[in-house]
Amino acid sequence: MATYDKTPFSELGAQINEPIGCANCHDAETMSLIVTNPALEEALQRQGQDWRTFTRQEMRTVVCANCHVEYYFAGEGKYLTFPWDGGTTIENIATYYQEEAFKDWDHPNSGAPMIKMQHPEYEFFTADSTHYKAGVACADCHMPYTRDGAAKFSTHNVHSPLLNAEAACGQCHTDVEYVTGRVATIQAQVRAAMDASEEAIVAAIGSIEKAAAVANVNQDLLTEARNLHREAQLRWDFIAAENSMGFHNPEEALRILGIATDLGRQAQLKAVEAAGTPTVIQASSQ
Ligand code: HEC
Ligand code: HEC
Ligand code: HEC
Ligand code: HEC
Repeated sequence: MATYDKTPFSELGAQINEPIGCANCHDAETMSLIVTNPALEEALQRQGQDWRTFTRQEMRTVVCANCHVEYYFAGEGKYLTFPWDGGTTIENIATYYQEEAFKDWDHPNSGAPMIKMQHPEYEFFTADSTHYKAGVACADCHMPYTRDGAAKFSTHNVHSPLLNAEAACGQCHTDVEYVTGRVATIQAQVRAAMDASEEAIVAAIGSIEKAAAVANVNQDLLTEARNLHREAQLRWDFIAAENSMGFHNPEEALRILGIATDLGRQAQLKAVEAAGTPTVIQASSQ
């Protein structure tokens, strides 16, 4: 496992994608769904949870968390770790990374210590989405039951449910055309909110870069601006790296992107302040 961990995800993806083996999800003896990633087992343990006590329906979601999650490589040994000790919301994850003083890279223009999100489908979906709260599992939509004569089996050709919406959505929704239409609407709304975040973040980066070039820039304020940039971008990235363009949890996507936009603009203002440019109209001074 130690050497396996050091492999970049792109290589890992190539290794496990074609094909992902049965053993990634099933116990070879019993064919029950299992946790196979030690990092998932350990992250649950640190939260006081044991997946062996989970219900079958819970496992139909948790089995995907073997891979469809945010993770990082901790310490010198680059040990594969999930940043879940404080919980799995974006706020919990951001706090975890702050406390670990972890960064994946330094932004070349703003100099901020950045986090690169992976593919946090599990954390995003389970943050109280309508479907999760209703007890719907990842496998319900992505591996719907199909009939072959009398036999009923789970589709193992995992892809976008829109490619087989009758089977994927029609098992619960009578108006499949309506709900698939909603997917497009939701994704367009989230895309627009994401664009607004991006504009705010790009503006922040530009202002920080300019401020850093000012001879007597206030370094404390500049550091604050860089931290705001980091916090804005990791939130934006959480939604951008998640693969459903917001559908898995529309309200949460719009909530997070709203905060990302605000933090981006705060970073921009802080950079202007650090540079000593007058920005505040002293409303209280007269
Ligand atoms: C990405 C995870 C994943 C992989 C990989 C996977 N399965 Fe499954 N499999 C599932 C899920 C989820 C179910 C539904 C289990 C349930 O509802 O309890 C399932 C169910 C099954 C069942 C029970 C009958 C059914 O269809 O519901 C069999 C048999 C099965 N899988 C065989 C296999 C074999 C053989 C392989 C390798 C070729 C494989 N699976 C690979 C996730 C996976
Ligand atoms: C062992 C790791 C692993 C597990 C477990 C796993 N996946 Fe994946 N999944 C991947 C990787 C890697 C890709 C990316 C493939 C690529 O980029 O071409 C992927 C891609 C996907 C895609 C996009 C496929 C496409 O080409 O359109 C869907 C949808 C998906 N997974 C859903 C699920 C669901 C639902 C579960 C749980 C039942 C699950 N996965 C479990 C590793 C995993
Ligand atoms: C209520 C149904 C539903 C549930 C539950 C659900 N998904 Fe999805 N998922 C979708 C839809 C719809 C899309 C968007 C597909 C598209 O845009 O073509 C999607 C997209 C994806 C993609 C990108 C697929 C692609 O083609 O690029 C992945 C990966 C994925 N889901 C994984 C998961 C995982 C993992 C879970 C559980 C943590 C999950 N999904 C739960 C409906 C669902
Ligand atoms: C296992 C059952 C199940 C499956 C499968 C399922 N849904 Fe749902 N869906 C629900 C439930 C339950 C709700 C909650 C509202 C309700 O009772 O209609 C819901 C709500 C929704 C909503 C309204 C969401 C909101 O936040 O107000 C949309 C849109 C939706 N589903 C789309 C889809 C699409 C698209 C698919 C297929 C990719 C799908 N659903 C698959 C059970 C399901």
